[in-house]
Amino acid sequence: MKILIIGNGGREHALAWKIAQSPMVKKIFCAPGNPGIAEIAECIDIEAENIDGLYTFAMKQKIDLTIVGPEDALLSGIVDRFMEGHLHIFGPSKRAAVIEGSKAFAKTLMRKHGIPTADFKVFDDVKQAKRHIATCEFPVVIKADGLARGKGVFICKTPEEATKHIDDIMKEKVFGHAGDRVVIEEFLPGEEVSILAITDGNTILPLPSVQDHKAICDGDKGPNTGGMGAYSPVPLITDDMQLSIEENILVPVIHAMKRENRPYKGVIYAGLIITSAGPKVLEFNARFGDPETQALLMRMKSDLVPLLVSTVKNTLENTEVEWNDCASICVVMASRGYPDKYEKGFPISGLETIRGMDNVQVFHAGTSKKDGRFITSGGRVLGVTALGKDVSEAQETVYRAIQKISFEGAHYRRDIGAKAIYRKA
Ligand SMILES: Nc1ncnc2c1ncn2[C@@H]1O[C@H](COP(=O)(O)OP(=O)(O)O)[C@@H](O)[C@H]1O
Ligand SMILES: [Mg+2]
Repeated sequence: MKILIIGNGGREHALAWKIAQSPMVKKIFCAPGNPGIAEIAECIDIEAENIDGLYTFAMKQKIDLTIVGPEDALLSGIVDRFMEGHLHIFGPSKRAAVIEGSKAFAKTLMRKHGIPTADFKVFDDVKQAKRHIATCEFPVVIKADGLARGKGVFICKTPEEATKHIDDIMKEKVFGHAGDRVVIEEFLPGEEVSILAITDGNTILPLPSVQDHKAICDGDKGPNTGGMGAYSPVPLITDDMQLSIEENILVPVIHAMKRENRPYKGVIYAGLIITSAGPKVLEFNARFGDPETQALLMRMKSDLVPLLVSTVKNTLENTEVEWNDCASICVVMASRGYPDKYEKGFPISGLETIRGMDNVQVFHAGTSKKDGRFITSGGRVLGVTALGKDVSEAQETVYRAIQKISFEGAHYRRDIGAKAIYRKA
């Protein structure tokens, strides 16, 4: 098979790494990819948003299966376009991806179909939104409706703070049209967990639990980022809870999408908060998570390709997946200053010393190559990922590997996995 992966982050590197191990695969292309991916696939210079360019390339190369990483491409209708041309592509249609593209849509769907989520109201009028604030308990959560690259959610402790963010989103349009509407919702205390599942619209295949770490600093302090690390499995999610998430969240949401005439295929990613009243949904994403995918794919024993193929061909019910019984951790090494302004162009050293390490993979995110050397070129630079018999062992291995890698201003969290270890102790 000839495979095309769309995207250029650590998630796409992990997908390429896993897919490259499949005996079914003859050739992998990645658009646009990155220098880490270039070691196992052919990177082509077409941006993820260039749907026409990607379509023409896939047609010409007779690509057997395309996998879409980033959400923007999904919401621009890449899946619809490829399907019109009878090209196999893994991911939801534009109509289905709206579950990520509009928080107001997702929240309304959840309310209508009895899926547990925070209480909320949607506003498209600034004055009414502000008037509602006067009736809220604090903290309150203000969310821009549309895609905002993880920057459109604000937990506000006071009415003044809430009012300011409503103005920024709806009046100043700091997120453009993504701020035409806001969701104002109840704050839910609890630990966050991600449950991803692969679905062909009929069968749902949940993946093991995984926990992302959004905040830039240890102890979940500081501003939110694209994700600073992840580990799997999450001991907080017992087998019973995993089943109840499947029954009360995953099955109903796929059913609901069918009922709304938005049949869903691909990865459905439920961002959950485990409250004292059980798991509640913060949001749905329409794609693989980053860095969750890095941690998950390290644990996947089975070949990923048959899973992707049967999703596309609606035969997922006949597919089995095997997982390694061990734990995995991905720790993101970021540039100094990230998630705000950061410098780039610093040489990265030590990567060759990791190649010999058992159970460690380094997935590239923001790297470039200059004069044959890897240099930093993004906020999140590398996702160092390790396996261990449990989270403690994986943690030890991952941080040992990180010690060997360096670049000017490298910043990473030192507590990825700590919540799992603390819970077990
Ligand atoms: N109702 C809520 N209660 C508590 N925290 C929340 C709530 N909604 C969102 N958050 C926090 O804000 C983060 C981002 O919100 P989310 O809905 O996942 O949007 P996005 O990922 O698109 O930025 C979450 O990971 C969580 O930490
Ligand atoms: Mg989120």
